Parts: sequence; C-alpha cells; structure tokens
Amino acid sequence: TRVAVVFGGRSTEHGISCVSAGSILAALDSDQFEVVPIGITRAGQWMLASGDGDKLAIDDRRLPEITAGTGAAVVLPADPTGNGLMVLDAPDGPRALAGVDLVFPVLHGTYGEDGTIQGLLEMADIPYVGSNVFASAAAMDKEFTKKLCAAEGIPVGPYAVLRNGTTLGEADKERLGLPVFVKPARGGSSYGVSKVSDWADLDAAIEAARQVDPKVLVEAAVVGREIECGVLESDAGGAPEASPLAEVRVLPGRDFYDFEAKYLDESCEYDLPARLPEEVTRQVQEYACRAFTALDCAGLARVDFFVTDDNQVYLNELNTMPGFTSTSMFPRMWATAGLEYPKLVDRLIRNALS
Ligand code: DAL
Ligand code: MG
Repeated sequence: TRVAVVFGGRSTEHGISCVSAGSILAALDSDQFEVVPIGITRAGQWMLASGDGDKLAIDDRRLPEITAGTGAAVVLPADPTGNGLMVLDAPDGPRALAGVDLVFPVLHGTYGEDGTIQGLLEMADIPYVGSNVFASAAAMDKEFTKKLCAAEGIPVGPYAVLRNGTTLGEADKERLGLPVFVKPARGGSSYGVSKVSDWADLDAAIEAARQVDPKVLVEAAVVGREIECGVLESDAGGAPEASPLAEVRVLPGRDFYDFEAKYLDESCEYDLPARLPEEVTRQVQEYACRAFTALDCAGLARVDFFVTDDNQVYLNELNTMPGFTSTSMFPRMWATAGLEYPKLVDRLIRNALS
C-alpha cells in the first residue's frame, strides 16, 4: 500500500505540520506501507522527499521549513544550507500523488485542514485520512464551528464576529466584558491570538489577528480550566469514540496557552487523564462526540473545551487534523487509553482505506 504523507504547506502552521509529519513518518511501518513523503513549500510547490523525517523536528526553538530547489528540502531558518530530507530534483506538483493508494494530509490550518486538499483528493478519487471537505472547512472556521455546535445544543461562550475591517461596538464590549480573546477566525496554534485586558489594546489585537485572517473573532474569556478530548471514528461503523481527557495548565508567568507555551517552552503542565468528576468527564466526552457528528467529521478530531469552576462545560474549538507530534495531546490522550502512537497511525490509515 502506497501512503503519501503530505506536510508543510501555505498555512501559518507550516512548521508545526512538518513536526507532526516527522513523527508520523517515523511511526509508519515500512514493512506494511510504501511511504511517499511530500513536502509543500510556503509558496505551494510540492516536493517529493526521501529520508525518514527525523530532521522534521523543532531544533533549538527553530521550526523546520520546506523550501524549493534541489538538495535539502527541509531547512531550519538559521541554517539555510540544511541537512534535512533530500528532495528529488524538481518541484513535482500534485503529480506526486500518482499511484498513491491513500493520502495522510498532515496539514494544519488553511490550505490543508480546511477542505482544500480534501477537495483535490475527492476530485482525483484518492482516499485520505480524516474529515471531508465540508467538515474540514466548517471546523477550520471558528464562527461556523460555534454555530453548528450550538445548534446541536453544545454550549459555546459569548463571542462576536468582525468582518470587513470592522471593530467591536460598544454594545458588544459590554456584552463580552474583559478580558477577551481576539482570534483569526481561521487560524491555529494560537498564531495571531491575543488576550486583551484593556480596551485600549483591542485595535492592535484585531490588527494582529487580521494578519492571519480578515475575519476576526472576539471571544469572552471563559474563566476555568482548559480541557481537551480526542475523538476517533469508530472501527466498527458505530458511534465515534472519545479518549480520556487531558487538562492543560499554563504555569504562572504565561498569560494563556499561546504558541510558545504550546511548542517552545516548558510553561505548561498536562494532566492525563484530567482530574475532573466522573460526570463532568462523561459530559465533555459526550459533547466531543456530538460535535464530531454535528460537523460530519471523519477519522479524527481533537475537541477543546473550557470547564468552569462550577463545572459548566463550553466548547472552544475543534481541530480536524490536531497536532500530531509524538508529544502532542491527541496521540498522548489515546496512548492513555492504551492506543500507542504507531497503532493510532495504523488505525487511521486502515479506517480511511476501508
Ligand atoms: N492547530 C494545532 C496543530 C492543534 O490544534 O493541535
Ligand atoms: Mg486549533
């Protein structure tokens, strides 16, 4: 079985995608699968790569990057000579998919987690891991995620949507209160996200979010704990399955679970499983599966929640291709349930092929 692992891409989350792919490439059983690694540059050029992906890692706070040209395809920004995966000569374009039985689109964010590559693969009739065009697009956009989930009775916190260069009106300021989180509607890994505790800082935060997406969300900060749940499509054609929960605790000194905390420092602690009352755990898992179904997801998703001190549960967002590095929460939550990383990858591929 030929499996193409596609990574990098035009998203702000290019580097994280490379790191996720590095872990997946390392876990794929080469006796079972013929693996075709395909890196996409930030400009959208497709590069066939060889090598086992061990250079696709964060090194001294630098993220890997796919660059076009012969020689090294993966370079670290401060090391332009690179010594990463070797590309085969020339940019290859989607032709690289010829003869592939399945694609694992390990792409986070726009141009990959948003239905775009899923559409390309549907057109070419190539099976792929994960959600279809609609679910990917709906989950990528935090406005529509909230709307669709709220329509299914899943609580979401108060928010406002800013389109076409508008700012937040006085009525919305009053309704949301401080602090608020300002986010690009279609972003990830906290790129472009700010916490605003003084309205004087709002416009700068909106501007930062607009660098990622012209549509911006302003969300009331939910005071509470940050809880994540992994969901997998059933192996047996039944209801989706929820993982044990994880709690992310940002240590004092860091304002929120931002990019640095996610990937670069040791400023977070994780509880696996999260220490929550049994009935709250079940509620979160039920909402996670309901959200997965509400958006028509397939394969996998990580659904993120806030749980307040009085155990009210609010959905934050849903990721159809969650971070997949060996230390990412999605694989760690499933490992807690006894599904180790290589088995998880194997299950996703087999489900997508069946
Ligand atoms: N968007 C990042 C990769 C995540 O949700 O894990
Ligand atoms: Mg996300």
